[in-house]
Amino acid sequence: ATTLGASAAQTGRYFGTAVAANKLSDATYVGILNREFTMVTPENEMKWDATEPTQGQFTYANADRIVNHARANGMRVRGHALAWHSQQPGWAQNLSGPALRSAMVNHVTQVATYYRGKIHSWDVVNEAFADGGTGARRDSNLQRTGNDWIEVAFRAARAADPTAKLCYNDYNTDGQNAKSNAVYAMVQDFKARGVPIDCVGFQSHFNSASPVPADYQANLQRFANLGVDVQITELDIEGSGSAQADNYGRVVRACLAVSRCTGITVWGIRDTDSWRASGTPLLFDGSGNKKPAYTATLDAL
Ligand code: XIL
Repeated sequence: ATTLGASAAQTGRYFGTAVAANKLSDATYVGILNREFTMVTPENEMKWDATEPTQGQFTYANADRIVNHARANGMRVRGHALAWHSQQPGWAQNLSGPALRSAMVNHVTQVATYYRGKIHSWDVVNEAFADGGTGARRDSNLQRTGNDWIEVAFRAARAADPTAKLCYNDYNTDGQNAKSNAVYAMVQDFKARGVPIDCVGFQSHFNSASPVPADYQANLQRFANLGVDVQITELDIEGSGSAQADNYGRVVRACLAVSRCTGITVWGIRDTDSWRASGTPLLFDGSGNKKPAYTATLDAL
């Protein structure tokens, strides 16, 4: 096949990208989006600060623009993210204890209910574990409401939208290390106790300080063996030319070697769309031309 989405579909997978609502009026951007991708993740528009800027008042206009564009063009939607320590509205940042816990549950319930039936997978909880060697939870206002906040969020999401796949999503969990071991133990515990979890997302933001791990495929496989799907959710790889292309190829081949790795999402379309302040981590250059990384990705699919 000649596009990322069609090639991924040959093995039953999707190929997605993060999308920003304010770029849906950019013809070059939309042209590539509609041609190449079969899944979209709203880059910021479904986050807590965007959807509930005032407590109890929900705003979905920008997220709806993305969801409607996706549905009109045959793409599915990955919801991102219901509960996260970052990009919280100011009112939530100022809450703690039972008030924050109930605000979080209400947020998960309201947003997942609003989008019920329209979401392929939800990142229910994002980035809840600490970096480094401790394997601890990340300290956050949500964590301080009690260690059970993650399972409470998953149960609320399942009740609100029984058809969406419910995922845990994080970074620096792409290889086997203390952080991914801690996520693994949580997923194992959730499966044992019947906490609803269907998938684990591996963000996969790679650069020279955080390269594609040698045991990337093995790490995806050990999570899949717990009985969850795995997905590459925010892929970008710093670099250029053949070195970058080789790394993209490695990531794609790792996913395809794991039968429960059901899809890959890149975190933006053109290098100029990247959240990274500088660099060229994506598959298309600033003019929308295919880079060697694109060709390597397509060839590996
Ligand atoms: C980033 C967006 O790309 C930026 O536009 C925003 O300013 C900050 O958030 N991990 C995540 C994503 O889960 O939500 C982040 O997205 C990138 C890191």
